[in-house]
Amino acid sequence: MIIESILTTLDPAGTANFAPMGVEWGEQEIIIKPFLETTTFKNLRDTGAAVVNLTDDVMLFAQGAIATVQFPAVPATAVRGVVLEAACSWREVEVRSLDATPPRARVVTAVAHRGFRREFLGFNRARHAVLEAAILATRTQLLPAEQIRDEFARLQVIVDKTAGPREREAMALLSDFVRTAPSERTEPASR
Ligand SMILES: Cc1cc2nc3c(=O)[nH]c(=O)nc-3n(C[C@H](O)[C@H](O)[C@H](O)COP(=O)(O)O)c2cc1C
Repeated sequence: MIIESILTTLDPAGTANFAPMGVEWGEQEIIIKPFLETTTFKNLRDTGAAVVNLTDDVMLFAQGAIATVQFPAVPATAVRGVVLEAACSWREVEVRSLDATPPRARVVTAVAHRGFRREFLGFNRARHAVLEAAILATRTQLLPAEQIRDEFARLQVIVDKTAGPREREAMALLSDFVRTAPSERTEPASR
């Protein structure tokens, strides 16, 4: 099963990187599949550790999907890394093997530590809709503009029905982003 996380990694100089990543979940082992051009891949290769942060704050997925971002974080316990302050819970992981076959690496990691900060509430349709919108926002270079527009319209209905203010704000951020024609963007999205 793929669980959507905010993955934090450090570069060799200790600078933290935050990226939304779907990871293959396991209790002892978590598999991360970053595209080779991502900072996440380079950091995993160069420093061999990460923190898989689980959060119910979809704004972080929205912001992370469309820009390079920094979020408040504190040092991890068992690996050289950082834990997102907004995490409900997290796994600190160490790289065991790395297959860098293009276009997408397969990085097998072992769970070295589990942490818990606060409750993760139940299902909310708007949060899932924002997650889907965030993924679409990383694919503006790959999908027809009409498809993106149609899917956003469908997801917006769910947000209107079931969101709180944070989800509404995250959806508005993504909608603004995709409204710009992909051909006008200078930096292509990588997923
Ligand atoms: C919910 C979600 C899941 C994602 N999962 C992945 C993934 O598994 N692998 C990947 O390379 N990119 C994934 N992305 C896209 C990356 O977050 C995006 O390319 C990001 O810019 C990479 O950041 P980085 O270069 O700082 O590592 C995902 C995006 C979202 C919104």
